[in-house]
Amino acid sequence: MTPALAPSQRIITALDVENKAQALALVDQLGQASLFKIGLELFTAEGPALLREIQALGKGIFLDLKLHDIPNTVGEAARIGVRNGARMMTIHASGGKSMMARAAETAVEEADKRGFPRPVLLGVTILTSLQNEDLASVGMAPDTSAQVLRLAALARAAGLSGVVCSAKEIEIVRKETGPEFLIVTPGIRPAGASAQDQKRVMTPAEAVARGSDYLVIGRPITQAASPAAAFAAIVRELEAGL
Ligand code: C5P
Repeated sequence: MTPALAPSQRIITALDVENKAQALALVDQLGQASLFKIGLELFTAEGPALLREIQALGKGIFLDLKLHDIPNTVGEAARIGVRNGARMMTIHASGGKSMMARAAETAVEEADKRGFPRPVLLGVTILTSLQNEDLASVGMAPDTSAQVLRLAALARAAGLSGVVCSAKEIEIVRKETGPEFLIVTPGIRPAGASAQDQKRVMTPAEAVARGSDYLVIGRPITQAASPAAAFAAIVRELEAGL
């Protein structure tokens, strides 16, 4: 848990858009936002040049590619992500301890070499789209909570800075991993907002009160009539709740 963060610094706005023009328009409108998530869709469309462009605007980038491959490949991808300005990055914890450890090492090595702040590597535990029966079908014990805890502990042991998990798992992950480990949660909906396709949602204030460090929020901000006003309302909701 990172109590020093201001509410606006806890919000990672998900740029789930198709192209650079749409992404940059959102970054431009969201002057109060400090962190933006670039995921597979936008990265596949625009590549690392967009990371450099957003970084040059003074914004932090959460590169959410959920890497999963052999340690050498993931390590080198993490290095190149850092080189191109990613401040936070995701890798699948199920890729194993050596893979995560290599990514953490190469990312720090690259940041130190370039004088960048040390990057935050986050393990993806179990995707919230998977249920107990999905785990069983790929040969895992059909208990998502137990699997999330196992992978969070492994991510910590491998030297990652934190994990991405669903808001309903915040407390059990915090208990397992201790106060310093970062917890990043998607599936956040401001009070009164539509849940869209998210099945289990939590308000920003509740997620932070339960121990989440960063909130990944997409459509409630990006599809609002005024993204800036929606962002500001979430900040106020967090301020009131903190
Ligand atoms: O628009 P919304 O706020 O639902 O966006 C949430 C973001 O978090 C999306 O980019 C989505 O891919 C991501 N995410 C999620 N649920 C997870 C993991 C990631 O919604 N379990």
